[in-house]
Amino acid sequence: MAKKEFSASRRELVKTMGVVGAGGLMAGFPITAQAFSWMDRVSSRKPLAAVDVELELEAVPAQFEIFSGQNTAIFQYRGRVLTGSAGTLVHNANSYLGPTIRVTKGQRVRIHFKNNLPEATIVHWHGLDVPADMDGHPQSAQEPGGTYLYEFTVANRAGLYWYHPHPHGRTGIQVYQGLAGLFIVEDPEEKALGLPNGKQEHIVVLQDRRFSADKQFEYIQSGHDRMMGLWGDTYLINGALQSPRSMTTGSQRIRVLNGSNARIYKLQWSHGANLTVIGTDGGLLDGPQSMAEILMAPGERLDLWLDVDPTLIGQTIVLKNLIVPQGEPPENLVTFQIVEEVGPQLTLPSRLSELSALREEDAVNFGNPKRFTLEPTRSVGWSIDGLGYEMGKVRPKETIQMGTMEIWEFHNPTGMPHPMHIHGSQFQILGRERSHPAIVDRGWKDVVLVLGGDTVRVLKRFDHHKGLFVFHCHNLEHEDMSMMRDYLVV
Ligand code: C2O
Ligand code: CU
Ligand code: CU
Repeated sequence: MAKKEFSASRRELVKTMGVVGAGGLMAGFPITAQAFSWMDRVSSRKPLAAVDVELELEAVPAQFEIFSGQNTAIFQYRGRVLTGSAGTLVHNANSYLGPTIRVTKGQRVRIHFKNNLPEATIVHWHGLDVPADMDGHPQSAQEPGGTYLYEFTVANRAGLYWYHPHPHGRTGIQVYQGLAGLFIVEDPEEKALGLPNGKQEHIVVLQDRRFSADKQFEYIQSGHDRMMGLWGDTYLINGALQSPRSMTTGSQRIRVLNGSNARIYKLQWSHGANLTVIGTDGGLLDGPQSMAEILMAPGERLDLWLDVDPTLIGQTIVLKNLIVPQGEPPENLVTFQIVEEVGPQLTLPSRLSELSALREEDAVNFGNPKRFTLEPTRSVGWSIDGLGYEMGKVRPKETIQMGTMEIWEFHNPTGMPHPMHIHGSQFQILGRERSHPAIVDRGWKDVVLVLGGDTVRVLKRFDHHKGLFVFHCHNLEHEDMSMMRDYLVV
């Protein structure tokens, strides 16, 4: 695409943006049919000539035996490798989750998505830095039978990312029905560290659900569910009921995703050891951080290191959740059974990765952070600055100059926590008004937990892709309600 053409269409877009109505309909043309063509024009995407990985991915209604002998109606991602090594897609027959996609930084990826659901959907690659039209913006949602072609180069550093639906107003229920999968990026920097792998690498996806008497997923039942977000009464680990996992002795790597709709966990090891954090949302930290307890909000990831002493053989180590009803004991999330098998004992590297800290002084709005207030309103419920989601409509403060870095401030005057997620490249957390001993704010992040009464500032570069992206609360019921806004990089 020629440069000249690009800026002309950008001007046109900004002009059009000015006449977008509150309902998300653009004057003169419906958003659905025309959206791609103009989104294409503002994205910096060049079609990929050749790809390293080509996949097929579909979303389908299915039946799955979560409880033995009883089928639960679910939605499921299914995939197939067309080009690339077979290990690019890892299926787990015991899980309702979608296949795990494993790629290497720099690989060019093409994914043919097909919506075989009875409702509109689109796939979002959570945490990946991809062009606007590849990001699964709600505007790209496809009706039943529709397809979407994704093409992007994996720009992210090694880390645990994930994919899930993103149609406006239906994200919560679709994830709840089973639509989610992991997207793991590897890179040479991480490989060179020789972190625990094979049997010593454990992946844990935390979710919670509520089931009806006949074992069907039970979604929102009340106004309370809607305002708080859905908290289930049954934990599901990696898309299955809880069951003990075996663990050898030696050094372990435990990679955790909170894939719950709304539940916030407070993690702790049962055997008195600290949690050793080696990575967060956007990959490895510069060095390990030791914490007694960790709060983990929906959408967040944690990379943990654990050394298991041979004296623990025959015992269990349990990952516990401390956020439980008042007066109740901590709950078990994952039970690791220490088996009589000696795994390699490695030395935890004191230096994990090259992590350059962004400098606050380099922000275009240094000293003048952009404030977004997280508050409830009578008309929309949970909102950002009192506004619900208005597809395609951006305010001046939601319009960002390509190539700049900005300071955003999430201000939460209420008592309700909101995990705020910004699409596009990863950001860094500058600080929070009320520091909290169980929150990890280090490293590259794409979700930041904003507790009640707190104000959190983040630093984010907008230097890779032009176009329309969203930011929202990752409590999925809040997102659907519609605690979400667009931002436009021009
Ligand atoms: Cu994980 Cu916009 O989402
Ligand atoms: Cu995301
Ligand atoms: Cu929220």
